[in-house]
Amino acid sequence: MAEGPTKVVMSTDLPGAISRRQGKVRDIYEYADGLLLVASDRVSAFDVVMPTGIPDKGKVLTQVSAFWFDRTKDIVPNHLISIDVADFPEAVQPFAEILAGRAMWCRRAEVVPVECVVRGYLAGAAWRAYQDGEAYCGHEFPEGLREAEKLDEPIFTPTTKAESGHDIPLTREQCIELCGERHAMQMESTAIELYTFAAEHAEANGLLPADTKFEFGLVDDELLLIDELFTPDSSRYWDAAQWAPGRRPVGFDKQYLRDWLDTLDWDKTPPGPELPGHVVSRTRELYVELMRRLTGREP
Ligand SMILES: Nc1ncnc2c1ncn2[C@@H]1O[C@H](COP(=O)(O)OP(=O)(O)OP(=O)(O)O)[C@@H](O)[C@H]1O
Ligand SMILES: [Mg+2]
Repeated sequence: MAEGPTKVVMSTDLPGAISRRQGKVRDIYEYADGLLLVASDRVSAFDVVMPTGIPDKGKVLTQVSAFWFDRTKDIVPNHLISIDVADFPEAVQPFAEILAGRAMWCRRAEVVPVECVVRGYLAGAAWRAYQDGEAYCGHEFPEGLREAEKLDEPIFTPTTKAESGHDIPLTREQCIELCGERHAMQMESTAIELYTFAAEHAEANGLLPADTKFEFGLVDDELLLIDELFTPDSSRYWDAAQWAPGRRPVGFDKQYLRDWLDTLDWDKTPPGPELPGHVVSRTRELYVELMRRLTGREP
């Protein structure tokens, strides 16, 4: 039997780093010989970090990423060195209990300023553009598609990496302008190959990866896959059993949380509201169920 949820980790305070910063979800520590990415249990929705965490969420993100980094390392090299605390810097060893299963020791890279999105199904921003009769990232779609329809081929739909505000979709030409032709073309073909590989595995486990986001970095001018990989935060996973084109499928992500937030009189600016127990436990269940289906393991 699975054990119950562990104590929620909202933020960490580790010693000995050269620099540190906090993303929405991760605490990022730079040490002389690498980067320690600690996935907290923070959850964001509508770009606002909630004051309440989701127990084990950070462990799911780290362990799902590690699962995929290991399986895709022959497609493209990645930043992961180890998730074993024993391999982390000496200074953080006293924090082994907090870090176990939720932190990645990585190679630091120069982050490429593009979010590499691949879509196998018509959803989200691409669906909204389609409804308005517009191309998306330069892709024209055939007539008569319904929401959540499977596309003939997965498509590459990169966006800018906005520090604040919304990410802007990019055409291939714009992506080349930002990253140079060699890196842009390599990111596109690698992203499609990664998606195709993961989709096959996920589908065999009753999951449809509608779309997913990759980040790449550069080390010595060569591309390295960085950040997180095929997690429920970076990917829109649907339950295959409940999927049908023409209606919005059930997602293994923050949809339950977003739907609950939509019932509130909250203007989607910080601070977010405290989350009630049922929203926390349902969201946790979705994250854990996704990890179980993908990896056969629990956090
Ligand atoms: N190997 C790496 N080298 C350098 N930076 C990295 C590496 N891997 C991940 N990062 C960066 O670390 C950060 C991860 O933190 P986190 O995901 O919490 O950020 P975020 O606020 O969620 O940003 P976003 O919402 O755009 O993902 C990202 O800014 C990512 O680009
Ligand atoms: Mg991120």
